[in-house]
Amino acid sequence: MNEKQLHELTAKIKSKSSDKIDIQQPSLTNAKQRGKESVNYNREFVIPREMKNVGVGKKYLIRTFGCQMNEHDTEVMSGILTSLGYEATTETTEADIILFNTCAVRENAENRVFGEIGHLKPLKLHNPDVILGICGCMSQEEAVVNKLLKTYQHVDLIFGTHNIHRLPQLLQQALMSKEHVVEVWSKEGDVIENLPKIRRGGIKAWVNISYGCDKFCTYCIVPYTRGKERSRQPIDIIEEVKDLAKLGYQEVTLLGQNVNAYGKDFEDKNYSFANLLDELRDIDIPRIRFTTSHPRDFDDALVDVLAKGGNLVEHIHLPVQSGNNEVLKLMARKYTREQYLDLVNRIKLKIPNASFTTDIIVGFPGETEEQFEDTLSIIKEVGYDSAYTFIYSPREGTPAVKMEDNVPMEIKKSRLQRLNNLVNEITATKSIEYQDQIVEVLVEGFSKKNDQMLSGYTRKSKLVNFMGPEECIGKIVKVKITKAKTWSLDGEIIENAIEV
Ligand code: SAH
Ligand code: SF4
Ligand code: F3S
Repeated sequence: MNEKQLHELTAKIKSKSSDKIDIQQPSLTNAKQRGKESVNYNREFVIPREMKNVGVGKKYLIRTFGCQMNEHDTEVMSGILTSLGYEATTETTEADIILFNTCAVRENAENRVFGEIGHLKPLKLHNPDVILGICGCMSQEEAVVNKLLKTYQHVDLIFGTHNIHRLPQLLQQALMSKEHVVEVWSKEGDVIENLPKIRRGGIKAWVNISYGCDKFCTYCIVPYTRGKERSRQPIDIIEEVKDLAKLGYQEVTLLGQNVNAYGKDFEDKNYSFANLLDELRDIDIPRIRFTTSHPRDFDDALVDVLAKGGNLVEHIHLPVQSGNNEVLKLMARKYTREQYLDLVNRIKLKIPNASFTTDIIVGFPGETEEQFEDTLSIIKEVGYDSAYTFIYSPREGTPAVKMEDNVPMEIKKSRLQRLNNLVNEITATKSIEYQDQIVEVLVEGFSKKNDQMLSGYTRKSKLVNFMGPEECIGKIVKVKITKAKTWSLDGEIIENAIEV
């Protein structure tokens, strides 16, 4: 596209004047409020009659950024769009609707999204009827919505994480009006059940157990973008997992920002995450995982139920963030290094073969060399199978933004490198323990690197590649490890399908 065309496009979309638009904008201040009001459960999702076939003969594309929560929200939006008659496509040029389901957790994630939205400008020029929508966690931020309205005028629709179920109505407005449609709720709404979902793959499924987060770690934007902690009713979760088992799914991952706080918001019953897992154990599905566990709410009852094993896998993702008590305090993680290590030891005692993974932030405001070294030492002490490591990213509206930060970016980068080197070393050592072992692999498909090989994951989430017949896909097979590499294992199949 040349300069003139770009100019024309800008003029054309500028006619969407911002003083006419139907706007319900987010406010981080309001998002921070945690009211005492009870959670309502809404089971009546209906598609407006006039929208029922609106997508017939049309296509949608959703680009997803961020965590599993977002991946699963995309499955819900795919379900809703499919109910309207739309079909999925992977080509932007074929799409009648393009949605960006965004992540706000770090600045570089946001910059990537802005870059990609910018790239869609020419497409909008060639096809002004295409609807471009931005949703997910970035939409919950005031600054982002203001920037979109000002600088990215080719965006038609902005909605947030609390009103995904309103997609049909919002789309209807966007299709009918030439103006921006913005509807972002700062306060979470009801828990909505019975939303349609299009799950990918048919082997592994995500199941939400709770929404939101009340922990307010000082660096984190999630409590503002996802609202107050709200648990789904046990019966709804149990029924969903039973249905997935009937459909032949082999693995379920229970999702929540802090799954261990599950049930704390119930006013009518004492029912915890441990209770939920105990009930899910009885369902005939081979593997149940969960993410994410906050160390503070990981109680002994939970350790005990996990120790029962069965379909509850012995892999625990337990973000530590830092190994230093002063930093943990500034982060408001609400546990000490000693308490964290005590928890790990209690788990190891009851589940001797448990594996641990974690999340770490380096370069938190003011972090000293000694404090960083405490993080290195806790990594060694726990012996994580792997770790997700990040450089601290200031998030507008969070308390940490106001903390004095005298650590130069160069030092932060070098700490990240040192941390990654250590994590990789430990991952490699842990991997070697698999040599000649027999593991159970849930086969997901052909290996991405070598399409002659099959690939899948062990109960502890270790990637295994091996030669085997195609009919193993979707099944759990026994594989003997012949070569242990750092990030994956090579093996040979010894038993086609196992009874679980
Ligand atoms: N609810 C989960 C996941 C939160 S986001 C939990 O509590 O573990 C995933 C990870 O991103 C966090 O564990 C943290 O390590 C990282 N993260 C969150 N905010 C960040 C920030 N401002 N800068 C850098 N990393 C961050
Ligand atoms: Fe963010 Fe902390 Fe909540 Fe996790 S527990 S989502 S890091 S505030
Ligand atoms: Fe990102 Fe929102 Fe998940 S900020 S990490 S998509 S909860």
